[in-house]
Amino acid sequence: MRLWGGRFEGGPADALTRLSVSVQFDWRLAPYDLLASRAHARVLHRAGLLSEAELERMLAALDDLELACKSGDFRPVVADEDVHTALERGLLERLGSLGGKLRAGRSRNDQVATDLRLYLRDHVRSIVSRLVELETALMSQAEEHAATAAPGMTHLQHAQPVSFGHQLLAHVHPIARDVDRLRDWDRRAAVSPLGAGALAGSSLPLDPQAVAEELGFDSAAPNSMDAVADRDFAAEFLFCAALIGVHLSRLGEEIVLWASQEFHWIEMDDAYSTGSSIMPQKKNPDVAELARGKSGRLIGNLVSLLTTLKGLPLTYNRDLQEDKEPVFDAVDTLLLVLPAVSGLVSTMRVNTARLESSAPDGFALATDLAELLVRRGVPFRDAHEAVGHLVVWCQVNDTTFEKLTEQDLAKISPHFVETPGGAAVPGDRGGVPGTLDVLNVQGALASRKAHGGTAPDRVRDQLTALREIVDGQ
Ligand code: ARG
Repeated sequence: MRLWGGRFEGGPADALTRLSVSVQFDWRLAPYDLLASRAHARVLHRAGLLSEAELERMLAALDDLELACKSGDFRPVVADEDVHTALERGLLERLGSLGGKLRAGRSRNDQVATDLRLYLRDHVRSIVSRLVELETALMSQAEEHAATAAPGMTHLQHAQPVSFGHQLLAHVHPIARDVDRLRDWDRRAAVSPLGAGALAGSSLPLDPQAVAEELGFDSAAPNSMDAVADRDFAAEFLFCAALIGVHLSRLGEEIVLWASQEFHWIEMDDAYSTGSSIMPQKKNPDVAELARGKSGRLIGNLVSLLTTLKGLPLTYNRDLQEDKEPVFDAVDTLLLVLPAVSGLVSTMRVNTARLESSAPDGFALATDLAELLVRRGVPFRDAHEAVGHLVVWCQVNDTTFEKLTEQDLAKISPHFVETPGGAAVPGDRGGVPGTLDVLNVQGALASRKAHGGTAPDRVRDQLTALREIVDGQ
């Protein structure tokens, strides 16, 4: 059954039908199409185009059709072309010619744009819930490890010790921004295209604003041409999804590293790791790798839609049918990946002893030492140089900062000597610790106590602030 047979003499070629049919993927819009149909039926009734009795029969048939769709009693067939065609067939089967009245004043062009917005606004709410679960999983681990020292890295090289909780929270902030971005997205997506018809609106006395309100939109589209041509809401959603993918990918990559024998920072729960078909000892981080891998298709979906939209003349063009698969794939992908990553994070066991013992490795306290000299009045440039020499000296003598003695220090630079006669600046420098005192990891963490720093107390403050944000999401 086609919706456009009247002016055609022959039927479509098989090749056209196969190319054109979208019902195999747009069928998931059926519940939203039915919602929009109910609103449209009411507006036709208010316009005097459906009698009270007709409206009642129409709404009853739509309810019945919805039940049949849910139970699987009503299914689309390939000849239906798309979800709108299939549902019109279902309506005609129930109502006979009355079913044909619902199409007045609307077009698949405004219908499909409306359906996709309704679908996305609904599913974005589920995605947000899954994001909040991931934030919560990361925050509980962070709470437990606010005071756990870990090697902080830049360039994947030991840089300065950090609180492991601080590092975990550094993955929460991007996700909190993603949620914020999706909420902001919804504000712009809450515009109803229904009433725009094919492109020019309708000569029938419809009420697009009433329809918008009934469907939970904030307003009706102010321009019927833009209403059917615009897919910004889809592209913007795909950007949000791609960025979420990138964030999950970066977290996934870290988890892959942490779970490796070389790092050995975490132990993954059996429920969230996989084995090898040949190597009996293997325990693999497939969840984290798939989170990393899936970002590729999320980025691809965004690029795919932007490429489709680029250069399209106004208004509706059939190219726009290509908007749905990337959107559906992004929704499915996120709803698949997020619960797995949350489970992985909430069940992983953190190897606290290993983190703490490796936190000072790689002369990670060198900056603390240089800053100590600065507090004694040494210009940072000289302090940097002196500590650099100390690192080389330790390497040559196969030792670490922790094993240094006062005598060793004195050999490298007078700046390291605190006694009068050394380079310590006279005057009241109360509270400045001794050279050897500064060489401990917990002290290094505690000293980074300004806002946003890695001191365990600040990490706990950060957690409190984040919990407030997440509670509001
Ligand atoms: N299935 C189409 C789409 O997804 C809607 C149909 C509009 N078709 C048309 N020939 N105007 O965009």
